[in-house]
Amino acid sequence: MGWFYEKLLRPILFLQDPEKAHEYAVLSLRTLSRLTPICRLMERCNQRKSCAPISLFGLQFPNAVGLAAGMDKNALFWNAAGALGFGHVEIGTVTHLPQLGNPRPRIFRYPDQQAIINRLGFNNDGAEVIARRLDKTGSAKKRRIILGINIGKSRAVPLDGAASDYLDSFQLLADYADYITINISSPNTPELRKLQGEEFLPNLLAVLRGANIYRAQKLGVKPIPLLLKISPDLSFQEIDGILASVIDNKIDGIIATNTTMARPGTFSIVEEEGGLSGAPLHARSLEIINHIYRSTEGKLPIIGVGGIDGPETAARTIDAGATLIQIYTGMIYKGPLLAAKIARHERSRMNRSLASRVSELRAKTRVD
Ligand code: FNR
Repeated sequence: MGWFYEKLLRPILFLQDPEKAHEYAVLSLRTLSRLTPICRLMERCNQRKSCAPISLFGLQFPNAVGLAAGMDKNALFWNAAGALGFGHVEIGTVTHLPQLGNPRPRIFRYPDQQAIINRLGFNNDGAEVIARRLDKTGSAKKRRIILGINIGKSRAVPLDGAASDYLDSFQLLADYADYITINISSPNTPELRKLQGEEFLPNLLAVLRGANIYRAQKLGVKPIPLLLKISPDLSFQEIDGILASVIDNKIDGIIATNTTMARPGTFSIVEEEGGLSGAPLHARSLEIINHIYRSTEGKLPIIGVGGIDGPETAARTIDAGATLIQIYTGMIYKGPLLAAKIARHERSRMNRSLASRVSELRAKTRVD
């Protein structure tokens, strides 16, 4: 399938404007999501071959690989993600108010560098419409895949009103989410990244945590795991400040990272505005993951994302300290079954490391 996609399908898709191609992909996946028996069959097939389930945040993830936020912004096809081999899918970013995003064109491909620059600006149908959509398709009982909902600030709302704007989205969407991601790191909403600073972050996290606990007590359920998605453009000192707020507010984990405003290597001459993703982000994403892992002594779960395009980059991300991983740009360049391929590989890697640990133990026993 990888060969078929890269040699035949991708060249045809890449003749289209990137956003048009994205719309075709969403349409195809939406159609697949309605063919329930086929989805189930593909899902079972993938799960049999993929790595063992992973327990995290009190949830059972069928495997380590998730679809990153931004691909299914409007919850249109998330229930087909299992058929492609994903163990979880993060929809959104959803904002409280519906919004169109920035003017087109706003997605740019760089095939030689296996990268994308986007400045979409949280185009989405808004929390109310998406909650209604999920009400039809997303009840926890019908769900076969872990569903994360990524929420962000509405563009029209000033930073001072951000906490209550996030709260509105949380309240509309919490019933449908296995976990909620608080996105304060997209570069395409003016000033959004300021929410990562001391002035705003502790209050934002406290408000959402309070609402989460209140909801859990009222409904007699467990609080929903809350994750924070951060930018790769922070200094380690800034990250340590964020980690302090995360720990104070008992946030369950970190997603590292969002797209970068940096223009490493050959991108230094690229003038297109927006967030850069894909291969050029990978090294920075690993540095951030590893920094968080070491700063928290491995105690804070990390979902690693950024430039993962195959088993090798996936393994590097897990070795840097991530427990789960997510992909987006890699799938555009390597095809829709990239997640299944990575999950299969992770399975044999896990088996191999288990085997080597067992033989190490045996050797030790013999010597002893
Ligand atoms: C994104 N990403 C993103 N992230 C997020 O939290 N909310 C969003 O709405 C979007 N939208 C979005 C659109 C497009 C076109 C791209 C390419 C990316 C960021 C994404 O989830 C991920 O963090 C980065 O892209 C890095 O991972 P990859 O793409 O290098 O695997």
